[in-house]
Amino acid sequence: MSDEINNTLQSVPVVPLVQSDNPATAVKISKALAAGGLTVAEVVFRTDRALECLQAVADQVPEMVAGAGTVLNAKQAEAAVDAGARFIVSPGLDDGVVAVARERGVPVYPGIVTPSELQHAFNLGLDVVKFFPASIAGGVPALKALSSAFRTMRFMPTGGISPDNLADYLAVPAVLACGGSWLTPAAAIAAEDYQKITTLAKEAFATARKARG
Ligand code: 3PG
Repeated sequence: MSDEINNTLQSVPVVPLVQSDNPATAVKISKALAAGGLTVAEVVFRTDRALECLQAVADQVPEMVAGAGTVLNAKQAEAAVDAGARFIVSPGLDDGVVAVARERGVPVYPGIVTPSELQHAFNLGLDVVKFFPASIAGGVPALKALSSAFRTMRFMPTGGISPDNLADYLAVPAVLACGGSWLTPAAAIAAEDYQKITTLAKEAFATARKARG
């Protein structure tokens, strides 16, 4: 597990999703986020050109720590690291994805919901997991219950995080960072309103600063 990325997440604890089928757009989104203070982002594998988008962000936006999100299998994990991913996020827990991340020396944040999944992650030696989909899976009370049993685990809740509940999640000591798509609205991207993305990033960064003291 990379202390470097975990340390960055400790001070910049909001991880936006970058979703695009156009590498130039992914670069603009990433620059807009970084301009608002959010310097860690997941480029999600949800479009045909996601890998190119990741590569473009990794190459052209040095101020951004770019990871790969929605990585579903070991092959995608290999491709992501080859394209420059500094970390890997998965919606679920897959041993093959974890193994690739280990071999390639990048942190991996696989998604869990249940105590059994969390115990599996724990016994794979992981110390940070994604909690997804956070709001549907019980939100802050569920996180508190899980972290009382797994005292060393840190969590990255995503799914249903918004400006309204961000501070509540970040106030849970076991939460390392929160992720979400609210910072990169499709409408703003379609309108090429990158200033809107910077404004949303600044607001989230300010909320995080306040919540973390
Ligand atoms: C993710 O993969 O992290 C989620 O799709 C983000 O969920 P959200 O769109 O509710 O933020």
